[in-house]
Amino acid sequence: MSDETTDKTNKARALRPDNDEFKAWIGSQWAEPEDLETTAAASAPFAAERRARLSAQFPGKRIVAPAGDLKVRSNDTDYRFSPDRDFAYLTGLGTDREPGAVLVMEPTADGHEATLFLEPPAGKDDDGFYTDPRTGEFWIGRRPGLEEFAALTGIATAPLADLPGGIDLAKHPKKKVRAALHQMRLVKDEWEVQQLRDAVDATIAGFERVVGELPRAVEHKRGERVIEATFDGHAREEGNAVGYETIAAAGDHATTLHWITNHGQVRSGDLLLLDAGVEVESLYTADITRTMPINGEYSPAQRKVYDVVLEAADAAFAVARPGATLRDVHEAAMDVIEARLTEWGIVPEAEAEESKLFRRWMVHSTSHHLGLDVHDCAAAKRDTYMDGPLEPGMVFTIEPGLYFKADDLAVPAELRGIGVRIEDDVLVTEEGVENLSSALPRDPDAIEAWMVKHSR
Ligand code: GLY
Ligand code: MN
Ligand code: MN
Repeated sequence: MSDETTDKTNKARALRPDNDEFKAWIGSQWAEPEDLETTAAASAPFAAERRARLSAQFPGKRIVAPAGDLKVRSNDTDYRFSPDRDFAYLTGLGTDREPGAVLVMEPTADGHEATLFLEPPAGKDDDGFYTDPRTGEFWIGRRPGLEEFAALTGIATAPLADLPGGIDLAKHPKKKVRAALHQMRLVKDEWEVQQLRDAVDATIAGFERVVGELPRAVEHKRGERVIEATFDGHAREEGNAVGYETIAAAGDHATTLHWITNHGQVRSGDLLLLDAGVEVESLYTADITRTMPINGEYSPAQRKVYDVVLEAADAAFAVARPGATLRDVHEAAMDVIEARLTEWGIVPEAEAEESKLFRRWMVHSTSHHLGLDVHDCAAAKRDTYMDGPLEPGMVFTIEPGLYFKADDLAVPAELRGIGVRIEDDVLVTEEGVENLSSALPRDPDAIEAWMVKHSR
C-alpha cells in the first residue's frame, strides 16, 4: 500500500489530490452504515458493578482511567492497539477499543458519575475520513461513534476535546486507585470466569494443533518457529491474539524460562516445552504449559524429571482451597522438589536452612494470578497477593518446573539439557479448586496417548 496521506512524515511521497472539487466528491454518495451498535455488550452490567465498587472506595475523589494511545513501532507504523487493562475492566471494552479514550468518574453527592471521553470518528464531510491513517475510516475501517459507545457500555460519552482541563493522563490511574483495582481484580466475577474458560479451551485446541504440526517442525531448520506460528495463528483465528509471547522451547531451550526467540531446531528425542495462551476478544488470557516428548515417548531420564514436577504440581493442587495462600501452594510444590532432588543426591549440604540450594533448578515461583493480564493484579499488596487467603472466584496458575541446563556441571550428564514445566489454570471454588485446563493431559502416559490422537 502506498500511504500518501501522512503528509507531515511522508512529505516525500504525498501525491493525493488536495483541491475542493476532490474533497466534495470523495465526501459524497455514501450509504448510512448498517452495522450500528445499539445494544449493550454482555460485559456492560459487570463493568457497571465494578465501577460502583470502586466508587464506594473513593468518595469525593475524581477517578481517571485512560485507555492509552497507539504506540509507534517505527517511523509511521504503530503497534496494534491494546487498551490498558484497568480501563478494560471498568468499561467492559476489549480488543482494539479505543485509542485515546479516557474514562472519568466525577464525584457526586452519593457516588460518581462516569463519562467516557472519545475521539469522534471523522464524518464523511471531514477530510480526516480519508487523510488520517490512524483514525480515518478509509484507512482503519469504521469506528463506532459516541452514541454507539454509549449503547455498548451503558456509559455517557463525550468528545475527547471536552475532557476537563488539568488532567495529566500519564499520572492516571493514581497509585491508590490502581492498587484498589488490582485488589478487586483478584476475584473474578461470573462473566470473567466464563472468559477465562473460553481462553483456556481455545488454548487447549491450540496445543492439539501444535501436536499435528510436530513432524513439519522436526523437518524445518527453525522448528520452534513452526510451533510458535502454529499456536499464534490459532490464537488469531480463535481469539484476539496470544496473551504473551509464546514460549516454544525444544531441547536445552526448555531450561530458559522465558525462551521466546524460538529459532531453534525441534529434534526427535528431545522435549518440547510449550508455554502459551490464547487471549480472547475481551482480553482475558490463559497461560498453560505442557512439556512433551517430540518423538512421542519420554526417555527414562526425561520421565524421571517429569515425574517429580508432576508430583510437585499435584502437591500444590492438594493444598489449594479457600483459605490457603499462594505461599502455601508454592511451598507444597517446593517441599516435593527439595525432597526428591535431595534423594537424588544433587543438593549439597547448606550452611543455613534459608539457603535453599535446591532452588538452583527452580528459580521462579509456583503461582501467579491470571486474568486480563497474564501476571494479573501485580499492583495488589504483597501481603494479600502471596499471603492473603484464597477466595472463590480467584484464578491462578500452578506451574512448578525443573530446569537442568546443558552446561550445568552440578547435575549428572543424563539430566543436562532437560527442562520441564507443567502449568495449569486454576479456579478457586467454594469447596476447593477446579483445574480449568484439566482437559489437557498432565500424566506422562496420558500425554503420550494424547500425542498419538492428535498426530497427523
Ligand atoms: N508464561 C509466563 C508464565 O508462565 O508466567
Ligand atoms: Mn504462568
Ligand atoms: Mn506460562
